[in-house]
Amino acid sequence: MKTLELAPLSGKKLRVFLIRKAYDEPWLIHSPSSESESKISAIKRPSMAYCDMIKQIAESESPDFATDELGLRSLKEFREDSPVADVFSKLKIPFYAVEMDEVAHSYLSRSIKLKLEKRNEVLDGLRILSDEKITPSVQDKIDRLVAYGQYLHDELEEEIRQVQFGIRESWIAMGILNQAELLKKKRLTAFHLSSPRHFQGMMELLQSLEVDVVPISFKRILAEVPKEEMKGMTELTGVSSVSVVPVIKRPKTKLSDILFFLEADEHASPFDICVAYDAGFDVVVPYSGVSLNQIQDLVQDAIFSRGTKGVKHLCFFVGGRQVSVARQMADRIQKAMVKPFETAVIIDPHGAFSTAAAMVAKAEDALRKLNQGSLKSNIALILAGTGPVGESVAHLLSKSGALTVLTSRNIERAKEVANRASIEGNKVERVQSTSPEDIHELLEDANLIFAVGAPGIQLVSLEQLQSVLGTKILLDVNAVPPSGIESLTPIDDLRELIPENYGIGALTIGDLKLKVQRQMLQEARKNAQGIYDDETALDIARNILKEQREAISKPKLKIEVVTA
Ligand SMILES: NC(=O)c1ccc[n+]([C@@H]2O[C@H](COP(=O)([O-])OP(=O)(O)OC[C@H]3O[C@@H](n4cnc5c(N)ncnc54)[C@H](OP(=O)(O)O)[C@@H]3O)[C@@H](O)[C@H]2O)c1
Repeated sequence: MKTLELAPLSGKKLRVFLIRKAYDEPWLIHSPSSESESKISAIKRPSMAYCDMIKQIAESESPDFATDELGLRSLKEFREDSPVADVFSKLKIPFYAVEMDEVAHSYLSRSIKLKLEKRNEVLDGLRILSDEKITPSVQDKIDRLVAYGQYLHDELEEEIRQVQFGIRESWIAMGILNQAELLKKKRLTAFHLSSPRHFQGMMELLQSLEVDVVPISFKRILAEVPKEEMKGMTELTGVSSVSVVPVIKRPKTKLSDILFFLEADEHASPFDICVAYDAGFDVVVPYSGVSLNQIQDLVQDAIFSRGTKGVKHLCFFVGGRQVSVARQMADRIQKAMVKPFETAVIIDPHGAFSTAAAMVAKAEDALRKLNQGSLKSNIALILAGTGPVGESVAHLLSKSGALTVLTSRNIERAKEVANRASIEGNKVERVQSTSPEDIHELLEDANLIFAVGAPGIQLVSLEQLQSVLGTKILLDVNAVPPSGIESLTPIDDLRELIPENYGIGALTIGDLKLKVQRQMLQEARKNAQGIYDDETALDIARNILKEQREAISKPKLKIEVVTA
């Protein structure tokens, strides 16, 4: 007989996608009480829509193995007579039955059977007494038998409940962990298909065993069957046509996820605070007017408060208007952390890193769509580039190898920003531009134009655009009218403004920026290590655009992630 032993995996991380089944897998600790109960398994089969859902989630998550309750099925039926087994087999995902050990089952079932027999004896006794003439002594016997019967019945129900839930779920959890133990990998992903009645119990049990559980329920949508398809079908089969939409719920971690939001300026940006909550942080604590020499105390005060595991539920975010100050602050935060009390640091000063990343990724995407080569083979012009967004765009372009020119109304300011943004070997050129003639000359040479001036300031007129030749990709980040580039509207997404001039507007950029910022925060919260800066933001932006391109060519099932 196998022994029931439950302990967290040692030296391994297991994530289980706990997928609710559409029905409770038939399983009994004692023989079926009625004929209909034993026949009911005929309708307890996964539908095609359910199998489709499993297939699509499996394709996107690539689990290392999958498990399902065996229930009353034989192993042969489990493997050969199950459409879900077919799905996993086609995807080459090992699929195992997990169930209470047979010997344990028969031992427990015997104990329950004995209690059942005793209770039935009492019921028989009561039936006999009810035929007798009711005298005080008969009534007394009845009362005592009723009380005994109630006691036995309650005990029986409690034992059945214990076996059906607590004990059976423990065996199932052990089956899942045992499969994970057999594999060599240190980080594993598994699917477990769970009867609805075990869903909550399995989630809590696996979490208590340090398994990262991603619960997946689904909504059943009854699809209307077109009349022509109904021909030859009974009404019943028509009704059973369902489509299944999964809903993933992430359980709350036991410790709250806290984001410490530090910045040198007067107040933390409400925009960034909202995005942080949307990214799943439970608490955001803003610290404004923070100076560099206050950072060590603040950081150490925070990291030592929750132990080495708890520190992974903290993150630091650096905002503020000045990019160079924000970088220094992030550097100080990292230095203040003492191993193993380390966690993630996100820098996005005034949202400039995520905005710049969105602009540069959109520019690259546009170059690809218009067959205009890479950033490296193009000349970029950053108009009014001395603000945080301009400086961040300049840094990313310098890193990508593009020939970059940055303008300002003031040459000293332009020099300072260009020096800070340049990486060795690819210096950002700086130019003072105060007249329409300057702009004309700069527009002539460039083919990527980034308008990053203050809100509501027009930097290029339509007339100026019409006076220059060649293919131009124009990105304008200003959403306050008038736009930075005349005739470009906020929702433009590579719209041809005039021949060979393609515009990308502030809302199109803003939409990507928001996704990038949220994802940066989400990843930092999840991974709780490393630095999330403009380069991380650019990687994320590129990935989002890549996924969008792929989604157009290959439609995917949408999985709605709901943070509980
Ligand atoms: N769409 C989005 O998702 C998003 C996100 C964040 C920011 N934004 C927008 O991005 C833009 C840049 O943001 P930011 O914070 O970096 O900008 P900023 O610092 O407010 O302004 C950038 C530069 O504009 C120039 N400027 C100011 N007034 C001017 C004027 N009257 N004429 C010509 N130039 C002028 C200044 O350069 P000089 O003084 O050196 O000439 C300034 O350094 C803003 O329009 C902002 O609203 C958009």
